[in-house]
Amino acid sequence: MSTIILGIESSCDDTSASILIDGVIHSNIIANQTVHMNYGGVVPELASRAHQQNIIPVVVQALKDANITIEDISAIAYTRGPGLLGSLMVGSSFAKAFALTRKIPLIEVNHLQAHILAHFINDTKKRYEHPQFPFLCLLVSGGNSQIVMVKDHLDMEIIGETIDDAAGEAFDKCAKLMGFPYPGGPIIDRLAKEGNPDAFEFNKPKIKGLDYSFSGLKTSFLYFLRDQLKTNPNFIEENQKDLCASLQKTIVDILTAKLKRAAKEKNINQIAIAGGVSANSGLQNRLFELGKKNNWKVFIPQLGYSLDNAAMVAITGYFKYLKNDFADQSVCPNARMKINEK
Ligand code: KG4
Repeated sequence: MSTIILGIESSCDDTSASILIDGVIHSNIIANQTVHMNYGGVVPELASRAHQQNIIPVVVQALKDANITIEDISAIAYTRGPGLLGSLMVGSSFAKAFALTRKIPLIEVNHLQAHILAHFINDTKKRYEHPQFPFLCLLVSGGNSQIVMVKDHLDMEIIGETIDDAAGEAFDKCAKLMGFPYPGGPIIDRLAKEGNPDAFEFNKPKIKGLDYSFSGLKTSFLYFLRDQLKTNPNFIEENQKDLCASLQKTIVDILTAKLKRAAKEKNINQIAIAGGVSANSGLQNRLFELGKKNNWKVFIPQLGYSLDNAAMVAITGYFKYLKNDFADQSVCPNARMKINEK
């Protein structure tokens, strides 16, 4: 009999459901929430309401695409945290009710672990090459920037992390300063392709060890724009592409400098990236360059599995299912869950 896992993701502003059959993803449906675009960031209350509206339709579509019915499902895996509490509560309540009524195991999943374990996904289109343990993973999203040593599927150690803003936040906040809608990361990426990365220079932080800091960059970008706008009110419009290219280069420089150091210190040459910012073309290109230079084997997640999605929750749930690692109905969402928490 097949093992069929229904994965549910609702940690921030994407509602997603996925069906995994014997370790292979058969569907991965993601409903994005456009309601936040005018606010310059995710509005938690609006996010939870939209999850309420989207959760049933995404599950129905995921079942349909995988050509299975509710009765076929062996276990349900859902994101317990970290994330926005109101958003997590929608996925968590749905998963608990589903497990209870269907009398199937409930599996809680750590969203950060799931981003990394997206590297172990195979789908009906392709079997992908997976990293070997131990490997380093640069986990970069809207809420996290950390270097993680991955010793096994469910055994991870943070060896460096941001002391303030995340890399995705730096992209989004600087994008907002230029007047772009949320999320600004993908817009900066697109415009950067046509700009000069050496046109402008922004401050890089001097932080000890393998940790990161991005709040200074945001401030330096803000003051730079403010000074330029004093003499030329059209400065942003006239220099949009160069601003994006230079900013992106600075963020990529900061991220990869520490990653290089970590690879050297830990003597590891299997390097992966994960999280929303891993979709950034500048970061991906730099990693391939570094890979060639340093003899790294570089792993970039498929686009559909790099942003928030339920396929990564389903594969993480599958590894837990194989270990009989199930949750009971008393488990609560954990908005501040760390990567090495269960
Ligand atoms: O992992 P994710 O979907 O959500 C969480 O934060 O958990 O990541 C979203 C972040 C946003 O900050 C968004 O701007 C950024 O990923 N992002 C990008 C790109 N695509 C998404 N940043 C830069 N370049 C991109 N292509």
